[in-house]
Amino acid sequence: MINDRTKIKAILESDKAGYPVIVKGWVRTFRSNRFIAINDGSTQYNLQAVVDFEKLDPALLKRITTGAALSVQGDITSSPGAGQKVELQVKALEILGDCDPEKYPLQPKKHSLEFLREIAHLRFRTNTFGSVFRIRHALAFAIHQFFNERGFVYLHSPVITASDAEGAGEMFRVTTLDLNNIPKTENDQIDFKSDFFGRPTNLTVSGQLEAELGALALGDVYTFGPTFRAENSNTPRHLAEFWMIEPEMAFYDLDDNMNLAEEMLKYLINYLLKHHADDLDFLEKRLSDEEKQKPLQDRSAMPLIEKLKFCCEHSFERITYTEAIDILMQSPAYKKKKFQYPVSWGVDLQSEHERYLVEKHFKKPVILTGYPKDIKAFYMRQNEDGKTVAAMDILFPGIGEIIGGSQREERYEKLLQRMEELQVPAKEMYWYLDTRRFGSCPHAGYGLGFERMMMFVTGMSNIRDVIPFPRTPKNAEF
Ligand code: 4AD
Ligand code: MG
Repeated sequence: MINDRTKIKAILESDKAGYPVIVKGWVRTFRSNRFIAINDGSTQYNLQAVVDFEKLDPALLKRITTGAALSVQGDITSSPGAGQKVELQVKALEILGDCDPEKYPLQPKKHSLEFLREIAHLRFRTNTFGSVFRIRHALAFAIHQFFNERGFVYLHSPVITASDAEGAGEMFRVTTLDLNNIPKTENDQIDFKSDFFGRPTNLTVSGQLEAELGALALGDVYTFGPTFRAENSNTPRHLAEFWMIEPEMAFYDLDDNMNLAEEMLKYLINYLLKHHADDLDFLEKRLSDEEKQKPLQDRSAMPLIEKLKFCCEHSFERITYTEAIDILMQSPAYKKKKFQYPVSWGVDLQSEHERYLVEKHFKKPVILTGYPKDIKAFYMRQNEDGKTVAAMDILFPGIGEIIGGSQREERYEKLLQRMEELQVPAKEMYWYLDTRRFGSCPHAGYGLGFERMMMFVTGMSNIRDVIPFPRTPKNAEF
């Protein structure tokens, strides 16, 4: 035993009674001067601790307030009351940390998610965020387990890089230069030679390029780390700092890549259904309460758990980008000019288009392949038609794009030509091109947005509510 406390989860999961414990946690409610609901974060459920107020010092009783930290010692007994099988008969009680009820922002009542975002340092203490962050842990664990079971190597790609993996230029600069006194070259350019790394550097937007280097030796690898995008997207689905899982596999073609991605998503959902039913049950109820406030057409088609099961039981629809454009242009939404953004072959699909395909047309997850090369990154394998690339995006109900990936261009000449066309600095990226010069092989990979997956499995509708401390434009609080 590491320390003397017993976690509430273990107490509630066991049917046993008649044994002594020490429990430490925070008061959720205290009623009738007798019943303390204690939560210690190990589970959604509270333990009922019963105190004999006649025997307790009234000054101590007064300090048992919502939010206070307690240590209670006593016996677990079977509970006569409804709502719990066992309870704790308190023999000794110590207040570890007082919590002034006049000043404590969290009261035992419903708070809005917007309000809780403003007190993100305290929101872990609510039922909703307790469940969300236990699920977040479990999802991360299941990801490692999935890849470990398949012999993948977890590769740590650098957080600070000198390259723009996606070529989209949405990077946060990393520098130690004095911004009040920026050193200049003779041509009045910033003199990066005197910067920390002796060159311009930024926070990574993706670990993919480094993962490719690993895959071309280790076979199957994956990264799982924070990535950063300085895109000015203030939406419920974008963060400036998000976590991404990027598997990269040697000797995989696009079909293999899609098969792995689909198997992984189903595995992760099944893992949560099997091991975290309590938290999912709670989140399902939370979601249905929230949706009662919404107009009928904006509510989800299925309750959370049914949706998760549905997703595991059906194969994802696989269609080409070209087919998707046809479907969109035939759609009543298009004909009635309901889409805000234009649709025609060559455009990048917007969230409204993706959601139409998934939620209205196919009513299940969709994998889109064969995107126009002009809207995709330089590293994607060029198809024979000269117009499209071997890309794949996976679209999920309520989310839109959850995964983006492709087969990679393994042919040196074709890759070099594409880099030149898109002005990707081929000379600086000699290390990337080297893999195509020395033992190149077909390979593929994809990126799963961890928080997008979190949104899907928790039913939370704002990405700011599935990461402890969200980073978005004009917001880096905490
Ligand atoms: O489609 P993206 O940009 O693809 C890549 O970065 C590739 N290098 C992945 C690869 O092939 N290895 O991003 C991948 C996923 C998206 O599908 C989305 O789920 C998520 O990352 N994502 C974001 N999530 C939250 N906030 C943002 N700003 C995101 N941008 C992308
Ligand atoms: Mg993408």
